[in-house]
Amino acid sequence: MEQLNQVLATSLDEIKQLKSLQELEQLKARYVGKSGAITAFMQKLKDIAPEERKSFGAEVNKIKTQFEDALNEQKQSIVAAELERKLASETIDVTLDGRGAKNGSLHPVSLTLERLVLLFGQMGFRVASGPEIETDYYNFKALNIPDNHPARAMQDTFYTESGHVLRTHTSPIQVRFAEKQTPPIKIVAPGRVFRVDMDATHSPMFHQLELLWIDKGISFANLKAVIIEFMRKFFEDDSLQVRFRASFFPFTEPSAEIDIYFAKAKKWLEVGGCGMVHPNVLNYMNIDANEYSGFAFGFGIDRLAMLKYGITDLRLMFENDLDFLTQFRGH
Ligand code: FA5
Ligand code: MG
Repeated sequence: MEQLNQVLATSLDEIKQLKSLQELEQLKARYVGKSGAITAFMQKLKDIAPEERKSFGAEVNKIKTQFEDALNEQKQSIVAAELERKLASETIDVTLDGRGAKNGSLHPVSLTLERLVLLFGQMGFRVASGPEIETDYYNFKALNIPDNHPARAMQDTFYTESGHVLRTHTSPIQVRFAEKQTPPIKIVAPGRVFRVDMDATHSPMFHQLELLWIDKGISFANLKAVIIEFMRKFFEDDSLQVRFRASFFPFTEPSAEIDIYFAKAKKWLEVGGCGMVHPNVLNYMNIDANEYSGFAFGFGIDRLAMLKYGITDLRLMFENDLDFLTQFRGH
């Protein structure tokens, strides 16, 4: 019994010194583990005279309980101390300087679009829009592209199961807008368009902007004036060279493709198509072709953004790489 009390006294002293849960577990094993000092007394029971065995056993259990109570108490104070230390180390010093917030930036396509709408707004064009999922009628037929017309193969089209198309250009917005209005009509129509197309200068989704001006006496001279004035304003270059190359679009007659001279690369680059609205299209718009005429112009917004900002690969526009995008901060 004396030995037992001695062991208890020593253990209680040791418990008070404990500083971590790890130490605590080690100590616990030393006393009440398989070959622990208190456990050893239990094993001695069999050597003790039967008449004393019961009271000795009870005594060992009492000691063991005292040991475990002391251990638990110490455990709680270790946990509390650790929590306090953690809280103290995590306090926030509200007097420190802030880290500053990173400013976001507009995507180059959005920047370009804003600028286009502004510049054309100054020339009196208002903004119109239309759906990205189109009917065959507006994307093709009403633009003078009947069924089986070879021009349908000019633009590789995405079809939906229900027989709709993802619009291949912004030209359908011309008809949607004009069929409900009477001239003068003077609109810009920007939007996403889709084609089965993918390389450094072609993307399956890109952006176009459509221009439509219908009124009495509108001629090819008006078309040229508007486009040249716009290009020079957009590129902030009063002597920018703009070239009209004879071309074909079913919805315009005559038609032209527009190139600008890209001085840095010393070459002409195609930026869009244009022409006088075809009489058949005016018909679909419920506009009398004998009274009115108009021109249309459609171009790639992404291409213009690339030229303006010196971007060489169209795919960069759609990869959402922050290193690329943050370069347009402050533009
Ligand atoms: C058209 O889409 C005609 N609707 C333009 C038009 C409108 C002509 C009104 C006459 C009157 P085109 O397929 O050439 O035309 O496309 C016009 C421009 O879109 C091109 O010059 C080019 O700048 C851009 N573009 C065409 N395909 C892609 C593509 N896959 N990725 C990026 N830009 C493209
Ligand atoms: Mg083309």
